[in-house]
Amino acid sequence: MKSIAVLTSGGDAPGMNAAIRAVVRTGISKGLTVWGVQEGYSGLIEGNFKRMGSRDVGSIIQRGGTILGSARCPEFQTEEGRELAIRRLRGAGIEGLIVIGGNGSQTGSHALNQMGFPVVGVASTIDNDLCGSDITIGVDTALNVALNAIDNLKVTASSHRRALLVEVMGRKCGYLALMAGIAGGAEAIVLPEVEVVPEQIAKRIQDGYERGKPHAIIVVAEGANYNAEGLCQAFRDKQLLLGFEFRSTVLGYVQRGATPTCADRILGTRLGAEAVEQLFAGNVGVLVGVQGGALVHTPLAEIVSCRKTLDPWFLKAGDLLSY
Ligand code: F6P
Repeated sequence: MKSIAVLTSGGDAPGMNAAIRAVVRTGISKGLTVWGVQEGYSGLIEGNFKRMGSRDVGSIIQRGGTILGSARCPEFQTEEGRELAIRRLRGAGIEGLIVIGGNGSQTGSHALNQMGFPVVGVASTIDNDLCGSDITIGVDTALNVALNAIDNLKVTASSHRRALLVEVMGRKCGYLALMAGIAGGAEAIVLPEVEVVPEQIAKRIQDGYERGKPHAIIVVAEGANYNAEGLCQAFRDKQLLLGFEFRSTVLGYVQRGATPTCADRILGTRLGAEAVEQLFAGNVGVLVGVQGGALVHTPLAEIVSCRKTLDPWFLKAGDLLSY
């Protein structure tokens, strides 16, 4: 193998740049030509490739987002789109591809690999909903952003004796909400994995109010059956009493765009470098991740048919300790 390409796809994640940097520099150290594909699978279909040198990835390790750009690309979901992408890659003399991204992106990389083009995936999404890695690139930063917000919200909630609902990202996975809720000492955590009953949440908050709590923080995962504003509306519509006045805050993209933490820079670096090693060794059609602290390579075929679940210990702790 003499020439490889790297792309970032789906939602960006803090630490992606560290992974790109590691891919480029590890590749160059092995004598490979490394290409950066601009804007994910769209760039692949358009043949939008840029040759990457060591200097092109200088001073990016501390930057959030992705210098290559990212996109969601419906055309790539068609067979014709993927065939065109492979023609573009082969036309540029590229023999292997590294895809840094989450579930949707790795479904795409599996499809390419099955069509005969060698691909290695790198586990990256703030949602932590991807199998094959205990933790994915971007999660630690997104959690810390949520945690800072919760800490700040708690201060003003206490000053005004309010209940503040804070909505965090995560798509249909409650990992970010659960961990940020536990670490932030939330009074209630609302998750997609557990059916939300507004009456139960209201009662829990009101009990706390009567026991003398000065505030209440309710962390709500965006994918729960009530989002933060939906839950506020349900409290109003059902005339549920919480004791406290309540308001909601949506964190949204603030979580995705942050400066990567040390843990995300290290994880991105580790996974990016390992992806090159695997591609170079011909171990393709796998996702590179970490499990129990060690690097692991899981077949993409397993990844795309797997659903990650929340650790029951944390689910129980989140419920118990928020009382
Ligand atoms: O998958 C990452 C993520 O940020 C989710 O948490 C969120 O639901 C989604 O992407 C938002 O996607 P988009 O950038 O397309 O609005």
